[in-house]
Amino acid sequence: MTSSVQHTGAGGYPKVRRMKFRFGEPEPMTKYYAGDDIVLSHLVALLSAAFPPGEESFIRSVRRFADQITDPVLKKRVAAFIGQEAVHGQQHGRLNEQLFALGYPLPRFVSERGELVQRAERLASPAAHLAITAAAEHYTAVLAARVLSSAEIQELAADPEVRNLLNWHALEELEHKSVAFDVYRSVGGPEWLRIAIMSVLHAFTIPVVGLGVFASIIADPPAWRPITVARQSYRLIRGPIVRGLLGEIQVYLKPGFHPDDVDTAALLRQWQIELFGAEGALVDRVR
Ligand SMILES: [Fe+2]
Ligand SMILES: [Fe+2]
Repeated sequence: MTSSVQHTGAGGYPKVRRMKFRFGEPEPMTKYYAGDDIVLSHLVALLSAAFPPGEESFIRSVRRFADQITDPVLKKRVAAFIGQEAVHGQQHGRLNEQLFALGYPLPRFVSERGELVQRAERLASPAAHLAITAAAEHYTAVLAARVLSSAEIQELAADPEVRNLLNWHALEELEHKSVAFDVYRSVGGPEWLRIAIMSVLHAFTIPVVGLGVFASIIADPPAWRPITVARQSYRLIRGPIVRGLLGEIQVYLKPGFHPDDVDTAALLRQWQIELFGAEGALVDRVR
């Protein structure tokens, strides 16, 4: 098994930034904040709702192996990974409060299922739990690269503070994209299990998320506009978020794959400067 735990990952050490976003200021958020797009607003609300319990689970999966990590560089990267995911969960939690007040019943229900996630993860072996995290991190890294490299996606996230949150989250997902993976390798996680877990996620994630968005719209009576929803669903499936996504996920199934095989270093540097350089757009959101 190859090991890449000695380097700091393509982006250097991930940096923990204690953010405080200003959702709903000065103008209150609108219900369909993603450019009046019902489907996209529900999709982002659902993902945002899943982040706090999901990211807590990612942190626990890595912590289960904390005492087996001996490499000092990897230890520092793990600490930064945990710090970043904790702030992500917290800031998405703040966005979620605003969204739930506007009425997103299913995302609210999902966000309150932390207990269920904990019970489910206890059924998995520690290695499988960590393999799930490593696979999920590949999803977030692929989506993050899309968010940061597509002008079309930047346009889609119409609410400026939601866009700021997504850009910051995307940036940090790229910064720590290989941490869980390197922990998995360093503790001897088997290659077959890594690939098997992703095969299952690869087959089910898009259908499950699609059904989730459908159910979320069903639970939201003001969104019952079938023609609009059909048109927006078609646009989403054919658009820059979903088009070609499975192919980019699939590269993870190749034996010997490493997240740094996908070169996102230039994109990362560009956005580190854009958001957090001397004149960075989000410098004033860091506490
Ligand atoms: Fe995250
Ligand atoms: Fe992450």
